[in-house]
Amino acid sequence: MDLKGRIKNAERVAVLTGAGISAESGIPTFRGADGLWKQFRAEELATPQAFQRDPKLVWEWYDWRRQKCAQAVPNPGHLALAELERIAPHFTLITQNVDGLHALAGSKHILELHGNIWRMRCVACEAMQESREPLGGELPHCDCGALMRPDIVWFGEALPQQVLSEAFSCARSAEVFLSVGTSAWVMPACQLPVVAKQSGAYVVEVNLEKTPISEMVDEAHHRKAGEILPSLLGVEI
Ligand code: OAD
Repeated sequence: MDLKGRIKNAERVAVLTGAGISAESGIPTFRGADGLWKQFRAEELATPQAFQRDPKLVWEWYDWRRQKCAQAVPNPGHLALAELERIAPHFTLITQNVDGLHALAGSKHILELHGNIWRMRCVACEAMQESREPLGGELPHCDCGALMRPDIVWFGEALPQQVLSEAFSCARSAEVFLSVGTSAWVMPACQLPVVAKQSGAYVVEVNLEKTPISEMVDEAHHRKAGEILPSLLGVEI
C-alpha cells in the first residue's frame, strides 16, 4: 500500500521535523553552509557555557535568527503537514524547530522539543516573557533585575521531560511516522523514527540528503520538503 493509502487507514500519525522544513522559508539550517553566523557554528553558541561567557554575543546571534524568523512565512511543507492534521484522527507534530512556523501554518498539536525563539526566560526566577521585538543590541532583563535568556534547550541541557515523554509515546503508537528535514544527528530526537520503526510504524523520510536513518526507513525521498510533501501526502494546500 502506498503512503496515501496508509495515511487514510491510520488512526495515529506522527511527524518529526527539523530545520530543513523551514529552509524553503529562508531560515538557515544549523549544519548547512548557510547555518554559520559570522565564524561561529551553532554548537559554539547554543550552550549555557557560551551564554555565561558572553551573553551579548549569544543574544546577538539569536537576534539575527529572530529577524530571519520574523521575515519568514510558512512554505508548502508546513502547510501540507497542517492539512495532514485535519485528516488524521490522532496527529502529533514533534518539532526541533524553534521558529513557530508550524503554528503559523495552522498546525495545532505541536510538541516543541527545543523551545521557542520568541520566548525568553529569566535565569534567576524563571519568569517567562514573549516578545517579537528586535533587541537592538540591548541585553534583555527580567523585572527582578536578572538577565533573560532564550527559552531554548541548548546543547548539554535536558529537554522538557513531559514533552519528550509524550513525543516518545506518540512515536511508539504511530502507524505512520514521517521524519522531515532533520539531519537525524541530534539526540534524543533522532531516536524517535527508530523507536517508531521498532514499534511497527511505516516510517518515511523526506530530506535533501541521505541521513543516518535513510537505510532503515520504509521510504526515503531525497527532495525538498516543500516540493514533495503536498503530493506525497495527497493533500490540497
Ligand atoms: P540540521 O541543520 O542539522 O539539518 C537540517 C537537515 O535538513 C539536513 O539534513 C538537510 O539535508 C535537510 N534539508 C535542508 N533543506 C531541506 C529541504 N528544503 N527539504 C528537506 N530537507 C532539507 O537541523 P536539525 O536536524 O533540525 O537544536 O538539527 C537538530 C537540532 O540541532 C536543532 O534543533 C538545533 C541544532 O543545534 C537547538 O537549537 C537546540
